[in-house]
Formats: sequence, structure tokens, C-alpha cells
Amino acid sequence: MTGHGDLAARTSAAAVLARCDELATHTDLPDGLIQRVYLSPEHAAVNALAAGWMREAGLTTWQDAAGNQCGRLEGATPGLPALLLGSHLDTVPSAGRYDGILGVLTAIAVVDRVRASGRSLPFALEVVAFGDEEGTRFGTALLGSRALAGTWLDAWWELADEQGIRLHDAFETFGLDPAAIGRAARTSNDFVGYLETHIEQGPVLEEQDRPLGIVSSIAGARRFQITITGKAGHSGTPWVHRRDALAGASEAIVAIERLARDADLIATIGHLEVFPDAVNVIAGRAEFSLDLRGRFDADRDLAWQQIEALLAEICDTRGLHVGVEQTHSAPAAHCSDRMRGVIAAGVRAAGAGTADAGREPLELLSMAGHDAMAVGHLTEIGMLFVRCAGGVSHHPDESVTEADVAAALDAFEAAVLALADSPGAMPAPQDPA
Ligand code: GLV
Ligand code: MN
Ligand code: MN
Repeated sequence: MTGHGDLAARTSAAAVLARCDELATHTDLPDGLIQRVYLSPEHAAVNALAAGWMREAGLTTWQDAAGNQCGRLEGATPGLPALLLGSHLDTVPSAGRYDGILGVLTAIAVVDRVRASGRSLPFALEVVAFGDEEGTRFGTALLGSRALAGTWLDAWWELADEQGIRLHDAFETFGLDPAAIGRAARTSNDFVGYLETHIEQGPVLEEQDRPLGIVSSIAGARRFQITITGKAGHSGTPWVHRRDALAGASEAIVAIERLARDADLIATIGHLEVFPDAVNVIAGRAEFSLDLRGRFDADRDLAWQQIEALLAEICDTRGLHVGVEQTHSAPAAHCSDRMRGVIAAGVRAAGAGTADAGREPLELLSMAGHDAMAVGHLTEIGMLFVRCAGGVSHHPDESVTEADVAAALDAFEAAVLALADSPGAMPAPQDPA
């Protein structure tokens, strides 16, 4: 497709879903499985595709100093602060095709619609396709959005992937200059707000028979790498002489689960490695991840203190040593009343004339993390959730319906226009949080 023709063909739900399918072919896993990680050849390929679609939508494009793909459409006059729309293009291992991706493609399609409508807005529109939200490659999440938010940490340069490639070197291989990372950072004055569309990653909308929902806030998450060390040895070793790191890790994992349940938090141990990993050798070392989330940072942090005490007690009793390293920390992020309001206006507009007409939009807490958490450091955030089948995400079975994506496009477009029509569409710049 060239030029700005074929608008309906580009901005319909069917077109957005076809683009999701196209991006899903850019993967480093065989057999149709999807994995696309930060600063990989697949990342470069999807950035190029997204950039092409952004240009078709009328945006001028650039890849920023962190590898985020960006685009901009001027508002009523050139150089106005922008409403930023976006999400991410990276994935977890064996991912679905919509987590993050749907948000980027919805944003592009909505800008296309607004441009084609000829409306001039009191702000510019920018779209960003973040390069790393999941943290799959380097263990630390939100690298792309934290670069844009100006909260990049120099300590991250030493992070290494499973092949031992340092983040610093991965930047250079991707064609980026690590010394220029500061150029990716934007300021509060650049933006009037940030809106993100995302699949819900939970079953609430489906259970409530709603296509769309409004995010109230995003739970804060902390991630840790925990290493338990004992002594490897022959599997015939008598009980009294064993210092089994895996048995200690197993006891700890079950205890962490119990503690988190009791505290109304979520704890996930999604990665476990055992060394030397042989059938007739006692595990001398066990390494596992912990992802700990909660509605309130204080509850989550208290639980972590209790988990540390519990790990120490279990390891003490078993003659083991425990080491912990925090790999990620993001505070809970609140969606502003104003952005929740414009998303609600969008959901109402999309529901008009449908079975949803007259129903108050549903507000949900997101237990999943999102780029919005990082962007919230700079500007007000709002999020639109789209129903996904069974709430399943981070899995190849992720699924959305064309009708729900059509509703999301209408709602997201209406949200942008509601913000444009709202009093004080360009608020005074706020100080970074
Ligand atoms: C990202 O999807 C996360 O919630 O970790
Ligand atoms: Mn995800
Ligand atoms: Mn996501």
C-alpha cells in the first residue's frame, strides 16, 4: 500500500488483526511459536514494518536511541505537546500475538483515522512501539519505556542475556550508540498524556460480558533472582549428609506461594534451574526467579521482607546458603482521573447502539505490568483493556475477536477526540513524579 489511500482497508479491525498476524511471523522460535526479544534481528524487522505503517498513516517516523519505533503527526500548529499512544512489540517466550502488539497497531490505525477525518487537534499525536516491555532478554522489564521516561539506569549496561551478550554490546550490534541513550529521554513538557490499548490478560471482562474496560491502576511488581547453594554429591549420600539445594528451593517456593496468597498478593516462580542437573546427583545449586505483585507497594514490600526471612530460615535449617538479587522494580501506577474519564467517554461512544449501550464502563485493576507504568513518570496515563478469550495471555492461545477489536478502535479514537474536546486540553506541564 502506498500513499494515504485505502483508509478503511488499513484501519478496520480485520486489518489490525492481519497486521498482528504479520508481526507474529517475525520470531526466533520454530514451529510457529513466537518469541521476539529486545535488540534482535526480529525486533529490527518489526520496527521497519511498524515504521512503514506509521508513514502510511501520515506520521513522520524515527527510531529512538533505545530502539523504540516512534512516529508523529502534528496538531493544529507544528510543535505542540503530544498525546502519546502506544505499547510494545517485544514478547515473552512462546507468546501470543496480541500482548503489546495490539496496542501499537490500534494506535497507528487510530492516528490514521484522525488524520483522514481532517480534524485538527490541540495537540500532536505520537505513536511509540516500545522495544522492551517484557524483560525477556535481559531480565529487567520496561527498558524501552524507561529510556523514553528518562529513568534509564547505567547499571543496566552490564546486564547480560543467556548467551552472555551484554546489553551494551547488544545496543551496538543493533546499530545503536549506548552513549546516546539520553537522547531517547523525553520530558513532561513534550506530552499532554499517554494512552495505551492492551488485552486484559485476565478473565474479568469475559466474565462480565464486556468487550472493553478502563484500567484504574497498574499493580507494582518486583522481580528477584534467588540462588540457593548446597553441596552436589552422589544420590546415594545418606540423609544426614545431604545439603540439597533443590529440596530447599522447593520448600521455599511452596512457602512463598502460601505467604503471597495470605497477603492477597501474586507471586510467580516462572524460572527454575538446577545444577549440575543430573538424575543421580544431589542438586548443589538451584536458581529461581520470583515475580511479586500487589495493588499496594507497601504490602508487596512487606511480603518481600517476610520472604527474605523465610528463605533464611529454610536455608539455615537445611545447611544451605541463599543469595538474592533484585532484577526489576516498578511501583504501582495510577491512571489519572482525566485519562480514565476520556477512556470512559471512548468506551461509552463505542458502546452506543450495541448491547453495551447505557451500561457504565467497567474499571479494572491491572495485575499485569505495562509501559504506561514507566511513562507515568512523565505524564498522565490512561489504559483501555480489550477482552481476550479466557483471559489467557503469555501463551500461544491468546485470542481476541474482530468485533472486540472494532469496538476498541472506535473507543480509542473516541477517547483521543474526547481529550481534544475537553476543557484545558493542554494542561500545564507537570513535574516528574
Ligand atoms: C508483562 O506482561 C508483565 O506483567 O510482566
Ligand atoms: Mn506481557
Ligand atoms: Mn504487554
